[in-house]
Amino acid sequence: MRQTTGSVRVRASLLAAVTCVLMQPLVATANEDPTEVAAAMVDEKYSEQGSDVKRLFATRCSWCHQGYGMKHADGPRLAGTSSSREHVIEVIAKGKTPMPGFRKQLKPWQIEALADYITALPDE
Ligand code: HEC
Repeated sequence: MRQTTGSVRVRASLLAAVTCVLMQPLVATANEDPTEVAAAMVDEKYSEQGSDVKRLFATRCSWCHQGYGMKHADGPRLAGTSSSREHVIEVIAKGKTPMPGFRKQLKPWQIEALADYITALPDE
């Protein structure tokens, strides 16, 4: 009796393990992080400058804009902004109360890289 229950349990967990392995590629595709996709594109574009746009975002922007721009917090969600690249550059450079302007702290290419990154984030 005990043995039967045991082997059923083994079979069930084997099935779970196999299902897990089979599902993994699907889950990985569905979970592909859009911030990584956008950052890879930007870091390639500014590779000569040694761009690491997610690090830049994390140090300058993350305390107000969460989830690398994907989540609303003190600052709005940036992904899916209706603003043009030019307008985003202007907001980052000049600020928009209560957001500080960054033109004195960041180089022009860094502001452009952040704008490219933000406008490359998906709508949803
Ligand atoms: C002190 C908090 C704070 C920091 C730090 C901050 N922001 Fe903001 N940001 C805000 C707030 C609040 C708004 C909304 C302003 C409004 O529209 O009234 C905003 C708005 C924006 C907008 C305009 C969004 C749109 O749809 O037009 C962009 C773009 C933006 N921030 C990017 C950045 C970037 C990039 C950084 C880092 C370099 C940054 N912010 C740092 C608080 C912040």
